[in-house]
Amino acid sequence: MKAIAISRFGPPEVLDFSEVEMPQPGSGEVSVDVAFAGINFVEVLYRQGLVPASLPFVPGIEVSGHIREVGPDVEGLKPGEAVAALTIVKSGGYGEVVVTAADLVAKLERDEQIELATAAGVPSNTTTAYLVIDRVARLKAGDRVLIHAAAGGVGTQLGQVAKSRGASLVVGTVGSPSKAEVAARYGYDQVIVRSRLAEPAATFTDGQGFDIVIDPVGGEMRERSLDLLAPMGRLVVMGNASGADDVRLSSNQLWLTGKTVAGFNLADFSSRYPAEAGSALRTALAAVAAGDIHLEIEEIDPRAIVEAHRCLEAGQTTGKLVMRRL
Ligand SMILES: NC(=O)c1ccc[n+]([C@@H]2O[C@H](COP(=O)([O-])OP(=O)(O)OC[C@H]3O[C@@H](n4cnc5c(N)ncnc54)[C@H](OP(=O)(O)O)[C@@H]3O)[C@@H](O)[C@H]2O)c1
Repeated sequence: MKAIAISRFGPPEVLDFSEVEMPQPGSGEVSVDVAFAGINFVEVLYRQGLVPASLPFVPGIEVSGHIREVGPDVEGLKPGEAVAALTIVKSGGYGEVVVTAADLVAKLERDEQIELATAAGVPSNTTTAYLVIDRVARLKAGDRVLIHAAAGGVGTQLGQVAKSRGASLVVGTVGSPSKAEVAARYGYDQVIVRSRLAEPAATFTDGQGFDIVIDPVGGEMRERSLDLLAPMGRLVVMGNASGADDVRLSSNQLWLTGKTVAGFNLADFSSRYPAEAGSALRTALAAVAAGDIHLEIEEIDPRAIVEAHRCLEAGQTTGKLVMRRL
């Protein structure tokens, strides 16, 4: 079958149209004829060799499409059914066909009216947003929340999910004023350009600090995030988009000020708890289908994949990119 694969780690140009072996579903797995593949920042990290992968490698952590084949011990899914799927455990979404665990596949119900292009943009970022807000940050109604990279793929989902769960204040940070305009369309009460975070937390929260800070960016932001937390606040560490060196946080500061630092990784979570990840995926799809959570999809042609990776790597994209079938 055709796939966009890499045979060596490196710049966007290593993404190449290739012939690769058709994957076959094993026990508890299904194969999917890919209609659209979501494009994600983490696929840049795989391509660069910063996340372990064995070569040749077909990136792609989420897709929409139709079930092609069902492996042994799979119930409730049939060939031909329209689905959205997390392919994050083994990747492969940039291929014509991808195999994933049946637990990580959600049927697109006819009455839900979700387009295949939109459905491909939900499994990674919207599912992550629900798991991070509900399970990791344990948001309570009335919490004040700060989210970094608010105009990005996951940032645009986190703000809306936080608001829908009853946050009293949702503040986003972005790298530039033009991105502030984008983020403002996604449930944020206030969006600030990151340089303003040098000001005390009191400036944004009436002197209280944030109950939750969500950090997919790392570096300086991470250090500052801990200071911005209110006592008993939770910092969720979920990415390092800045590419900065790892940050040391003081464990003494945690107990002295009553703060929690938690981590989340959808790939690891999906491999350990596939049924729970699948359930969060269904919640995410239902919320998008109902219009409760909005995502702006930009469809790209497969021939534009190199340019798409270049823009993602430079932090120039907003919202969600999905690639049409090969
Ligand atoms: N842990 C998980 O399960 C999980 C799930 C989904 C995503 N993530 C992570 O979350 C991060 C964002 O993912 P995404 O899909 O939202 O990606 P995205 O749409 O590309 O957003 C990334 C954003 O990070 C900001 N950024 C800050 N410093 C940057 C730098 N030096 N280079 C590039 N970008 C920089 C940029 O926004 P500004 O210009 O506003 O700074 C950029 O738009 C990634 O690190 C990704 O791996 C983690």
